[in-house]
Amino acid sequence: MSGRKFCVGGNWKMNGDQKSIADICKTLSSAPLDPNTEVVIGCPAIYLMYARNLLPCEVGLAGQNAYKVEKGAFTGEISPAMLKDIGADWVILGHSERRAIFKESDELIAEKAQHALDQGLKVIACIGETLEEREAGKTNEVVARQMCAYAQKIKDWQNVVVAYEPVWAIGTGKTATPDQAQEVHAFLRQWLSDNISKDVSASLRIQYGGSVTAANAKELAKKPDIDGFLVGGASLKPEFVEIINARQ
Ligand code: G3P
Repeated sequence: MSGRKFCVGGNWKMNGDQKSIADICKTLSSAPLDPNTEVVIGCPAIYLMYARNLLPCEVGLAGQNAYKVEKGAFTGEISPAMLKDIGADWVILGHSERRAIFKESDELIAEKAQHALDQGLKVIACIGETLEEREAGKTNEVVARQMCAYAQKIKDWQNVVVAYEPVWAIGTGKTATPDQAQEVHAFLRQWLSDNISKDVSASLRIQYGGSVTAANAKELAKKPDIDGFLVGGASLKPEFVEIINARQ
């Protein structure tokens, strides 16, 4: 056993309305959730307070993005301070959709991560390669570059969880095999040991994300360097409970 607490995040992305969110929260409130697994829900910003009031208190709440400063003239943005203020304790940063669609750079994402940590939020820091990069044999190079950018800004890794999400597996139904995921997670563990510290390498949790379902979660969860999941589509369904309980 690694000693790292299994951590499962549900990333609802831009999905849900009051009715469907109430339904999911009801499912999560009534189901037996493994007490050895930390659960975090990444909810659209506009529903964060609503979800906070409906979720069990032991389930953490995450914003899906936050800007790199506390307040000011940044129309449309929200800050980590605002997330804290309404009861969120986490933020998801660097998701590949933010990188690809909204053109967020490694540097901006790292700045956001450091500011969120400074403000007392915990951060799910996403990384991952595209299909083209994988096929060119560049997976390790890409995730190392993304980790380097985080490492330029992040000084204390205690409140960070890294989510490895191969872009080709996101929303495609094409999951990385447990061996493929483990291989990258082991590389990341070694990278942390070489570039940050042995302590951080041993304690930092690395989630896998990309078409995780109730059907594949148990096998993935058996791998020694997979410390949880970041789940998109399946986190909107009742099967999310089975994913949370994958280690049981
Ligand atoms: O952040 C979670 C994610 O990108 C994976 O999405 O729908 O493939 O589970 P999905």
